[in-house]
Amino acid sequence: MPITILGIESSCDDTSAAVISDGELLSNVIANQDVHIKYGGVVPELASRAHQQNIIPVVESAIKNAGISKNELSAIAFTRGPGLLGSLLVGSSFAKGLSLALEIPLIEINHLQAHILVHFIKQIDKKPPAFPFLCLLISGGHTQIIIVKDYFEMEVIGSTIDDAAGEAFDKCAKILGLPYPGGPYIDKLAKTGNSKKFSFTKPSVADYNFSFSGLKTNFLYFVNAQVKLEPNFIEQNLNDLCASIQHIIIEILIEQLKKVAKNTGIKEIALAGGVSANSMLKETLISVSEKNKWQCYIPELKFTTDNAAMIAITGYYKYLKNKFTDQKISATARYNL
Ligand code: KG4
Ligand code: ZN
Repeated sequence: MPITILGIESSCDDTSAAVISDGELLSNVIANQDVHIKYGGVVPELASRAHQQNIIPVVESAIKNAGISKNELSAIAFTRGPGLLGSLLVGSSFAKGLSLALEIPLIEINHLQAHILVHFIKQIDKKPPAFPFLCLLISGGHTQIIIVKDYFEMEVIGSTIDDAAGEAFDKCAKILGLPYPGGPYIDKLAKTGNSKKFSFTKPSVADYNFSFSGLKTNFLYFVNAQVKLEPNFIEQNLNDLCASIQHIIIEILIEQLKKVAKNTGIKEIALAGGVSANSMLKETLISVSEKNKWQCYIPELKFTTDNAAMIAITGYYKYLKNKFTDQKISATARYNL
């Protein structure tokens, strides 16, 4: 009998369900929530309500697209945290109810661990990173460098002391009047911009940590001062501003990664999280990897931002290790790696 896991993700503003069978992806359905766009950020109460509307059709589609019946599921894996509590509650309550109804085991998942283990979804012509590997986990809420020693043995050796890299992209995009989330817009506009046109101060942070809030303030003051001199400054320089801010964010990330790789001697390097969708970051990592003889692993675009495929694959490895949970489990907004 194959081991078939239904994964459910609802930690922020994407409702997603996926089915993985013996490590292979059968379906991955994501419902995005457009309701937040006009507010320039995720509104927790609206996110929670949208999850309630989406969860049943999303799970039904995931099972249907997988070409299986719900009775063929071996277990249900759900995101326990970290994330928005109201959002997490929708996915976790649904998962608990379904596991009771189908009389199959329940598996709780750490969303951050899942972003990393997405590399282990079986894919033709693609091998997963070998342990131990370094993972640069960069999303809207987290920026960390992790030594991944085994599937469930992970050591965080560097973290942001303030904003996350995704937050830096999104906040700078907002300053430029771009929609939320701004990361993908900056990525696109930067392609035709000059990254050397404007320079910003790089933060100095101890050890392997990161800081982005000073950079954002630096960017804000610079843009405001220029707009005072020339009201059309943003419009006239949009692509160069995007390329310049993107350039420095990437430089900060890669510099710390190089330091850790050098000091640990680890040459297997993986990216994970929403920001790893950034095209210039991917290009930079590939060229830095060639120079340093690293083997780099970049997730496919559909696996970078929040998705349930990563929850299902993590559930699969937990299933193999008999790591189940019971109905007493509750969602948690904070959940460290
Ligand atoms: O992992 P994720 O989907 O959600 C969290 O768990 O936070 O990451 C979302 C973040 C947002 O900040 C978004 O702007 C950023 O990932 N992002 C990007 C790109 N695509 C998504 N940042 C830069 N370039 C991109 N192409
Ligand atoms: Zn995420």
